[in-house]
Amino acid sequence: MSMNEASACPRILVVDDEAHLRELLEITLIKMGLDVDSAETLTIARSYLSKRAYALVLTDMRLPDGSGMELVQEVNTLYKSTPIAVITAFGSADNAVVALKAGAFDYVSKPVALDQLRKLVRSALQTNEVQKEQQAAPEKLAAPASSFMIGQSQGMQEVRAQISRLARSMAPVIITGESGSGKELAAREIHTSSARSGKPFIAVNCGAIPETLMEAEFFGYRKGAFTGAADDRDGFFQAASGGTLMLDEVADLPLPMQVKLLRAIQERRVRKVGSTVEEAVDVRIISATHQNLAICVEEGRFRQDLYYRLNVIELHLPPLRERLEDIVELSSNILKKLTGNDVNMSEEAIDALISYDFPGNVRELENILERAVAFANDGCIEVADLVLRGARKSGDQAVMLPAQVDVSQVEERPQVPADHASAVNLFAAPSLPCSLPDYLENVEREMIRRALYQTRNNRTQAAELLGVSFRQLRYQIQKLKIQE
Ligand SMILES: Nc1ncnc2c1ncn2[C@@H]1O[C@H](COP(=O)(O)OP(=O)(O)OP(=O)(O)O)[C@@H](O)[C@H]1O
Ligand SMILES: [Mg+2]
Repeated sequence: MSMNEASACPRILVVDDEAHLRELLEITLIKMGLDVDSAETLTIARSYLSKRAYALVLTDMRLPDGSGMELVQEVNTLYKSTPIAVITAFGSADNAVVALKAGAFDYVSKPVALDQLRKLVRSALQTNEVQKEQQAAPEKLAAPASSFMIGQSQGMQEVRAQISRLARSMAPVIITGESGSGKELAAREIHTSSARSGKPFIAVNCGAIPETLMEAEFFGYRKGAFTGAADDRDGFFQAASGGTLMLDEVADLPLPMQVKLLRAIQERRVRKVGSTVEEAVDVRIISATHQNLAICVEEGRFRQDLYYRLNVIELHLPPLRERLEDIVELSSNILKKLTGNDVNMSEEAIDALISYDFPGNVRELENILERAVAFANDGCIEVADLVLRGARKSGDQAVMLPAQVDVSQVEERPQVPADHASAVNLFAAPSLPCSLPDYLENVEREMIRRALYQTRNNRTQAAELLGVSFRQLRYQIQKLKIQE
């Protein structure tokens, strides 16, 4: 690791009243090429902090003249650019959560594992480097090109500000928000703006893994652990090593797996299926869900201890209908991505979009525009090219509403064969029995039903068959209320 390349010798402040632990920490840090100051009490630590700048503060929780938590709070308000990590007593995982919530960068638990300590220190120093670079070139930070997330609405600005704060810490984050609101994108952005950006970002859809394979998928397995285990294999934790592991749709985790994950996250160690040894893993956990986890806990579907562990910091993504200002910018970006060109939209079309509810949020906007591009004449999107489904906000005028149709009748229509279903075919239909949105919806419903039937309700295979992502399929199944 080239952690001391940029600044000659980063300085670290160690605050601990146990002399032998302090010594051990000092020696370890000095061997890493760092300068170390050490303090036995909060008072001494404060005096050091007032005189020198530190690349990291490492503090014990229980000190003779107060709690390490006080220092966490002080450093976070008075020395904002200095990361502070805490040393927690064995078995006091709750303390670590409290410290992370208060803004601690990370924690190590006693007895201090030196390899874990070194990783923590490196990570803190790298975060400093990233920050320094960003300060040196602020225009780089401000440029939207470096950010995946588009939108200048108040809501998005807050999301971005929170993301840049979160990028500086190791604390677990839970991202909440409706389907298609950008949870995965936000998780990626936290990862790429953090010191972990050079390491893998792995997103796992917890609802898509068969329960029997879960442990092996997450933790890996040893050769011969079960039939078919021909070789040793790493799991998601090892694959994300040094980086970020996103537990997407975390509410879908079965209870037994929740126990195992909690343990892995708490101990930062995992054991491969079929192995007797544990290995240390260094991953940052970001989870996401469109469900209300607190309710899942109340209903006994989600373990409270895991909830508590993952829910250190919540990042909420506002639904698109609450940030209408973003629609135009999002649309032009999406259209540019789709066509490589600037595509015009008529004012009526823009009005129609702004008046729409977007139950499927940005993903739905993408889908609507993808279709619109296919239907649009002379490179300009008109209201008629927009297929907006059912719902609309009350009081708005500009939205086109699909005609009410008797859906039961539509269902009886001859079905478009799977391999011929294309926009062209739809236009070729002799007469349209209902509005275009309803017709399209029925074709979609039918295709999905067929795919599910052919794959015996295996959603992963069905998605493959349909050429869509698992999430898209799940989203469509929910939206079209398809019974499997
Ligand atoms: N602010 C944004 N700027 C640009 N693109 C966005 C934004 N938010 C979402 N998107 C795009 O919308 C689509 C859906 O986003 P994403 O997959 O992150 O949503 P999600 O909340 O994880 O959805 P789901 O709950 O269905 O998994 C993606 O293609 C993403 O790139
Ligand atoms: Mg997602």
